[in-house]
Amino acid sequence: VSLRNFNTFGVEANARYFVEINHRADLTELFLDPQWRQTELLVLGGGSNMLLVNDFGGLVIRMNIRGIEHRISHTDVYVEAGAGEVWNDLVNFCVLRGYAGMENLSLIPGSVGASPIQNIGAYGVELQDVFHSCCAFELATGAFKTFTKADCYFGYRESIFKGELKGQYIIVSVKYQLSTVPNLNLKYGAIEQELQHRGITAPTIRDVSQVVSHIRVSKLPDPSTIGNAGSFFKNPIISLAEFELMESRFPELVHYPASHGHVKLAAGWLIEQCGWKGKVVGNTGTWKNQSLVLVNHGGATGEEVYSFSSIIIDSVYAKFGVRLQREVNIIE
Ligand code: EPU
Repeated sequence: VSLRNFNTFGVEANARYFVEINHRADLTELFLDPQWRQTELLVLGGGSNMLLVNDFGGLVIRMNIRGIEHRISHTDVYVEAGAGEVWNDLVNFCVLRGYAGMENLSLIPGSVGASPIQNIGAYGVELQDVFHSCCAFELATGAFKTFTKADCYFGYRESIFKGELKGQYIIVSVKYQLSTVPNLNLKYGAIEQELQHRGITAPTIRDVSQVVSHIRVSKLPDPSTIGNAGSFFKNPIISLAEFELMESRFPELVHYPASHGHVKLAAGWLIEQCGWKGKVVGNTGTWKNQSLVLVNHGGATGEEVYSFSSIIIDSVYAKFGVRLQREVNIIE
């Protein structure tokens, strides 16, 4: 089965076996079939945060469990969505009804089921700010288990599902806790600027959602025309001591405060400083408006994009002494 239409990078790769999961019972059925117990698995949501470097010799499980339910209690709104729902459809569902909390996360590609795995985030808000709990299928036992927020150990683009429990669970639904009383997060400068530009002085969550969507469209390539998986690398987090040393050499260094004596650097800036912004290399390259995004200009192979990412890592390391980490899941 070709996976080309199931990964937003649009690279060609084949899966030996492929199954679509539409209901929880489909997972139980799969679990009870001895044929699959020994097979390597790859769980796919929107395929928007991965790079397929080779053909996949195992079973691809495409999560397509749908449904959005909500319950209001005073000013709290609990929204539970199936893992296969498109993330941005859920955001729109909430924004249109005035359920606040996700508006800054508008237009992030991918599925509901993938949202907790890497604690998706943008424009000053992270998934963990609205996450209540999720239900996941345990591959070893076939049981469905609930994870609270504390159970997930969320961090910057991190959770237990990417760490300790990697490959052991499949998320089937996620419950979010929103509010009918907006608590707008306008810390990100570009949001304020754009609101001002539009003459909006008392923004609603709908305004914020529209402004965020506008900023994303202007900076990031649309995967339906140019293959990409968003930020390819994480923004590196370094110690204050390392930062001070670096800043003395590069006073322009773009940075943000991070937890306990750490500093987060803008990887896009580091990459741009190495001369890579908008560079086309074969069928791949970096995006012209955002160097942190690697793109497929058409016909790129996973291998080609991967090699290019290694060149960038080496280049940034040579200039700044900082080793970038890939944010996108590499499937080999
Ligand atoms: N910058 C450059 N050159 C570039 C790119 C960025 O100098 O080519 C500088 C910008 O001038 C800015 C700073 O770097 O001062 C930060 O850039 P931006 O606001 O575009 O955000 P980012 O840190 O590059 C992160 C997330 C994005 C998210 C944005 C907005 C990560 C890995 N990426 O990018 O998430 O949309 O912030 O909040 O944390 C994603 O994960 O796929 C993603 C797109």
